[in-house]
Amino acid sequence: MIQPHGNQNFLALYESDFDRRQTLLEESRNLPSLVLNSAAASNAVMLGGGYFSPLNGYMNISDALSVSKYMKTKNGLFWPIPILNLATNINGIERASRIALRDPNIQDNPVMAIMDVEDIENISSSDKDEIIKNIFGTLDHHHPGVRVFRNLGNFCISGSIRVLSHSYFSLNHKNTYKTAVQLREEINRLGWKKIIAFQTRNPMHLAHEELCRIAMDSLNADGMIIHIPLGKLKQDDIPAHIRNKCIQKMIDVYFASDSTILSGYGFDMFYAGPREALLHAIFRQNMGATHMIVGRDHAGVGSYYGPFDAQAVFDRLPNNSLKIQIFNADHTAYSRKLNRVVMMNKVNDHTLDDFIILSGNEMRKILKSGTVLPETITRPEVSRILIDYYRSL
Ligand code: ADX
Repeated sequence: MIQPHGNQNFLALYESDFDRRQTLLEESRNLPSLVLNSAAASNAVMLGGGYFSPLNGYMNISDALSVSKYMKTKNGLFWPIPILNLATNINGIERASRIALRDPNIQDNPVMAIMDVEDIENISSSDKDEIIKNIFGTLDHHHPGVRVFRNLGNFCISGSIRVLSHSYFSLNHKNTYKTAVQLREEINRLGWKKIIAFQTRNPMHLAHEELCRIAMDSLNADGMIIHIPLGKLKQDDIPAHIRNKCIQKMIDVYFASDSTILSGYGFDMFYAGPREALLHAIFRQNMGATHMIVGRDHAGVGSYYGPFDAQAVFDRLPNNSLKIQIFNADHTAYSRKLNRVVMMNKVNDHTLDDFIILSGNEMRKILKSGTVLPETITRPEVSRILIDYYRSL
């Protein structure tokens, strides 16, 4: 099994022992508490599940600056995006050394973690700008990730945590949500040695499906984990439960069931392109994947990143930053000449007109009109689920 990130012991911060969890929940009743924002809560979920191993909690400002600038924590661990607990308000916890962290995404904000506070610092606006510029490559307020990050607050609460819940992910996505610990166990049980992770925030279209097939064939892999974000996305992205339904249908009908797993993780996306691709690679390594697909504009949005920036960033990493390997995919599209999906750089005799490509906006327009997408773009079973979704809006 591939080593977890950082050559250290695998650290999953969820307290899995029932009695110890009850004791901590009991203790939390008498602790000062903070209702987290959704970004900090999803960090807790990722830390809890082992996806962010070997981190033991939230970073301080000095680590955040170091990570954003050099992609390393102060103690030298490769890490591309700061893992933070930022807050707009610290009333009631100013002098506390141990606090309860409450879940913003569940009614009545139950406690989801207990934190030993190392420090509460105030982030200056120049430090915040520097972090944003380094992570997102832009300060543009129209970038959905920048907008969310900028508004998280200027108090940076750092320290180690013990996680007591997987938030709404284990409730609302019972069959899909899995921790890195569970996926490692599953891989072990299946005896897979070469495992490809495929990230997608979309219902899978034909290009995605073929991309997975091409990767499986060329790497001669044992299994594929289609691993989808279940947290908050930008407004026009398809919500997790619909995406889940589309992909499950696609797997049932078109994938080999003994070599494909659909699973999801509890995280709000940043849309940070290359930096997010690096974070994706870390947590896919932590869940036991040996390879991850990075295609065109991975984790990107709008035109903030070049189509293959998220591949190039891996080429510039110092050796041994990661153990997981990247399967670089060129733009994949349906060829009118060959009547199948191909990687565009593999067919030299084609011009752009030989490919069928639809933008996300064009697809949405067709689906909203109640029409199935062409089968050169999307499987009819998936189209039908999407039409029902758009009708329900
Ligand atoms: S992402 O934000 O989750 O990365 P998306 O679901 O669009 O967005 O992409 C999932 C993965 O498939 C990413 O690795 C992306 O680069 C890749 N990808 C999506 N569409 C294509 C395509 N047509 N050609 C090549 N790669 C693609």
